[in-house]
Amino acid sequence: MNTKTLAFIGGGNMASALINGLIEDGIPPQNILVAEPDEKRREQLATRFGIRAVDDNNEAATQADILILAVKPQVLKDVATTLAPALIQKKPLCLSIAAGIRHTSLQRWLGEDIPVVRVMPNTPAMLKAGASGLYAPNSVNETQRSEAEHIVRATGIAVWLDNENQMDALTAVSGSGPAYFFLFMEAMENSARKLGLPEKTAHLLVLQTALGAARMAMESTNDLEELRNSVTSPGGTTEKALATFQEHELDQLVEKAMTAARDRSIALSESLGTD
Ligand SMILES: NC(=O)c1ccc[n+]([C@@H]2O[C@H](COP(=O)([O-])OP(=O)(O)OC[C@H]3O[C@@H](n4cnc5c(N)ncnc54)[C@H](OP(=O)(O)O)[C@@H]3O)[C@@H](O)[C@H]2O)c1
Repeated sequence: MNTKTLAFIGGGNMASALINGLIEDGIPPQNILVAEPDEKRREQLATRFGIRAVDDNNEAATQADILILAVKPQVLKDVATTLAPALIQKKPLCLSIAAGIRHTSLQRWLGEDIPVVRVMPNTPAMLKAGASGLYAPNSVNETQRSEAEHIVRATGIAVWLDNENQMDALTAVSGSGPAYFFLFMEAMENSARKLGLPEKTAHLLVLQTALGAARMAMESTNDLEELRNSVTSPGGTTEKALATFQEHELDQLVEKAMTAARDRSIALSESLGTD
């Protein structure tokens, strides 16, 4: 990996998160190249990371051993089909982080014999706390899979999916998931204020409680139900709150919300992947 040239097409938020993680992981900055149309952004990327930033996608692609497509989904078809001729000779491993663009579309746009891995990151990747999913067909070999995983792990954890349909479920879990937790924290904050706590105190208590609960869940060998039971004394305050959630069918509500997110992911993929 340390001798390969990594080229990013698009130097926005997600590309920056990946570049930051890769450099912290020991990838030499001189091996990273980014193609980005915005001059100010190119200067920022070059200054912040010590990488090369160019304005020509083809220039980056022809040098790439590994190419990371980090543009918005709406422009990816144009970008990929324009790049395809530059990939014929070297056939670099291509990673697409674009939400909703199916592997078959990527393969068709980039060229049928280009190894392509589809990646779905999430926003906490910016803090190296991301949860990303990867999918590749059997034609992508073990070395290429391990290189793709190495890149994605620079921003957090990475899980491989057995089939591409699971990408829509993953989108409903980790892609949209941060917003569910923000919403729940907002609701807790609002209730805390109504119960008489000052705004700042409510905010701090909610955030630290969310962090503490997530850390306990990550670090404990107990499952979530056991953890919940361990903080729920019979006849106590937590039991009262949990009974209220159950009375209002929280489980079913969460399932409905996540199914709606999954269905929207399918619909968006269908509209974005058409020729
Ligand atoms: N952010 C997330 O949490 C998240 C999560 C999952 C997946 N993703 C995926 O990650 C990808 C990038 O998202 P992002 O949030 O990083 O977006 P972003 O910050 O807007 O980055 C995209 C970059 O691509 C540049 N660009 C536009 N057209 C280009 C072209 N023709 N050639 C080369 N570069 C071009 C943009 O420049 P201009 O600004 O000048 O147009 C921008 O700097 C998207 O496909 C998105 O679906 C993001």
